[in-house]
Amino acid sequence: MSSARKIVTRTSTQVGIVGAGPAGLLLSHLLHLQGVESIVVEAQSRTYCEQRFRAGLLEQASVDLLVDSGVGRRLRREALVHQGIELCFSGRRHRIDLFDLCGRTVAIYGQQEVIKDLIEARLNANGQLLFEAEATTLDQLKGSRPVIQFRKDGEPHEIACDFIAGCDGFHGICRPSAPAGVFTAYDRVYPFGWLGILAEVPPASKELVYTNHERGFALLTMRSLALSRLYLQCSPDEDVDEWPDARIWQELNTRCVNDSGMVVREGPIIHKSVTSLRSFVTEPMQFGKLFLAGDAAHIVPPTGAKGMNLAIADVYVLARALADFYQHGRDELLCRYSEICLRRVWRVQQFSWWMTYLLHRFDDDTAFEHRRQVSELNYVTSSRAAAQTLAENYAGLPLPVLVSA
Ligand code: FAD
Ligand code: DHB
Repeated sequence: MSSARKIVTRTSTQVGIVGAGPAGLLLSHLLHLQGVESIVVEAQSRTYCEQRFRAGLLEQASVDLLVDSGVGRRLRREALVHQGIELCFSGRRHRIDLFDLCGRTVAIYGQQEVIKDLIEARLNANGQLLFEAEATTLDQLKGSRPVIQFRKDGEPHEIACDFIAGCDGFHGICRPSAPAGVFTAYDRVYPFGWLGILAEVPPASKELVYTNHERGFALLTMRSLALSRLYLQCSPDEDVDEWPDARIWQELNTRCVNDSGMVVREGPIIHKSVTSLRSFVTEPMQFGKLFLAGDAAHIVPPTGAKGMNLAIADVYVLARALADFYQHGRDELLCRYSEICLRRVWRVQQFSWWMTYLLHRFDDDTAFEHRRQVSELNYVTSSRAAAQTLAENYAGLPLPVLVSA
């Protein structure tokens, strides 16, 4: 039997989306609002996607987009809006007043909550989300009807589309589906990772605390007023079993010790995991009818809290470009998709790299490096111009104004 005859179902849609992370789900939602049909194929189950614990900080522009597109009701009620952050170094805490410096704020709202809100909105609108459907091959990417092949319940299926959005994260199949040489990768792997902890204890501080300490970086953040999210710089292949709870609390209190006597209070730890850090950009972000968005196209180290926000910014551009194509027959924004997105991507890459170098210890750091870091931290916390640069990048630049000719 030929492989073509084995296909169990053949469906078609305007935009086939691979991946139900923030990028894929928001794209599907924004397209729906513009009258464009899509199907999302997601390898994992709905429960898995809704419980996957990841990012937690939304830029002002991301909050505004979610609210303006009608999926911000719970976000507006439950998110913790922060007007500032703290930098802790040489044993002292320094506040950066984001709102005063750039007129914008950030919001703490877990990525899995964004996912739940988007899934609910898509299902309420009878959107087609196929869970436990793993894309295996993309075909005819240069043709007029590209195809997504996927497996569900062990059987092969196909979707013929006008366009494919590759929103399947860093390890997905979309980016490698283009012929060799199409995409150029720009990559930097950092010699450390983050041990991420979730603990049932009120946050030690009202705002996020980023700490530079000789034993390594630490970050105190939160998910609610009763749930702390904590991170410690560790080795990239750190074994979480080497981190019993007592060691975690001791290390957090050692690294975050400061003049204000702040104490990182102990509580039941309900989750521990290790993430490695890398910077990665694919250029361009498009091949034929395939458009990459989010982590499928770029990765940033989490220090600037930008991964999810960048995924949101990409699909804002892609949804507008596709709507312009379907509503007005114009492909100018589609042709400029990579160029428009990469401008923000590189700005965010530079900021995330800078925050990472400002706050982490590298094994081969000399006393010179440490003094240079402290000098930069002193500058950022004493010069309004320097603090403003941090603030406007951290709270996030406005989404691009999109006008097609
Ligand atoms: P993803 O959220 O990765 O979604 C991709 C989806 O595609 C997944 O659901 C996946 O199951 C699916 N998929 C993959 N392959 C296939 C296939 N073949 N067929 C069908 N579906 C497929 N960012 C921050 O700002 N702060 C943080 O603290 C932070 N922590 C993180 C921790 C971890 C462990 C990771 C991996 C990322 C973290 N990030 C963080 C980054 C942030 O979560 C991502 O930038 C964000 O999830 C990107 O969204 P996305 O939709 O592009 O990709
Ligand atoms: C969170 C994660 C980050 O990487 C960051 O810079 C800020 C906040 C968080 O998980 O809350």
